[in-house]
Amino acid sequence: MALDSDQSALEARARHLMAEWVSAIAHNLNNPIAGVMASLGILRRDLAGPLSPIPQTVNEGLSRIELRLKDLSEYVAELYEFAKPIDLVLVRLSLSHLIDETISSLVHPNTKFVQRIKSPEFWIQGDFTRLKQAFRRLLENALDATIHGAPPCIRVTVQGEGSVVKIFVSDNGEGFSREALSRFAEPFFSTKEAGTGLGLAIAKKVVLAHGGTLEFTPNELGAGATLVMTLPQGKK
Ligand SMILES: Nc1ncnc2c1ncn2[C@@H]1O[C@H](COP(=O)(O)OP(=O)(O)OP(=O)(O)O)[C@@H](O)[C@H]1O
Ligand SMILES: [Mg+2]
Repeated sequence: MALDSDQSALEARARHLMAEWVSAIAHNLNNPIAGVMASLGILRRDLAGPLSPIPQTVNEGLSRIELRLKDLSEYVAELYEFAKPIDLVLVRLSLSHLIDETISSLVHPNTKFVQRIKSPEFWIQGDFTRLKQAFRRLLENALDATIHGAPPCIRVTVQGEGSVVKIFVSDNGEGFSREALSRFAEPFFSTKEAGTGLGLAIAKKVVLAHGGTLEFTPNELGAGATLVMTLPQGKK
């Protein structure tokens, strides 16, 4: 018993330290990024005289640098997102509204393959923006996993079970590798070339803050993955 509480105190301490380090790294990256962005703006202004526009090749080069900087600053925003403590703004919200709005905000070539299975209405006490973020991460992963297979199928199902409600996101994609499953929601673990490996970690953090869970479960689609977000139901 005492060993268990020692262990969880150690884990909490490790999580706290990691969040502090990540936050410090994000901060140290943020300042130079902002500095380079500002210098690029000045360079553009200085290079373009009223009678001599910036040569096309130089202009294209500057645009490429700006684009990479934008990627970098999005990455830094993700680091902050992962590291900062969660301050939930709880409201009574409709799950179908949350799900529909998240699906319609997706930007991905496979979004049209997302099927929303009809379900009764469920209400929860939750932070709309945070839950939308978490749910979007699950959908993005499902969409990424089906990018090479044909034909893609991503299914969103909602089921009430006693005092909780479960949101299932199933896909018929490539499935989790053995390593990805054993390192489920571990921060910075990614099998994608351009992945931050923070998607599931952030989603799990949001769901846990709502008193819920995020789990992997065997898939009724035969292949691929199913993730389950379980949340406490609010009062009717
Ligand atoms: N639906 C899925 N099917 C197969 N593998 C998945 C699925 N969802 C997650 N994974 C695996 O879990 C890893 C971690 O996912 P996570 O969302 O945390 O990061 P990521 O998707 O790699 O990066 P990012 O979210 O920044 O794009 C993925 O790289 C992938 O290997
Ligand atoms: Mg992801």
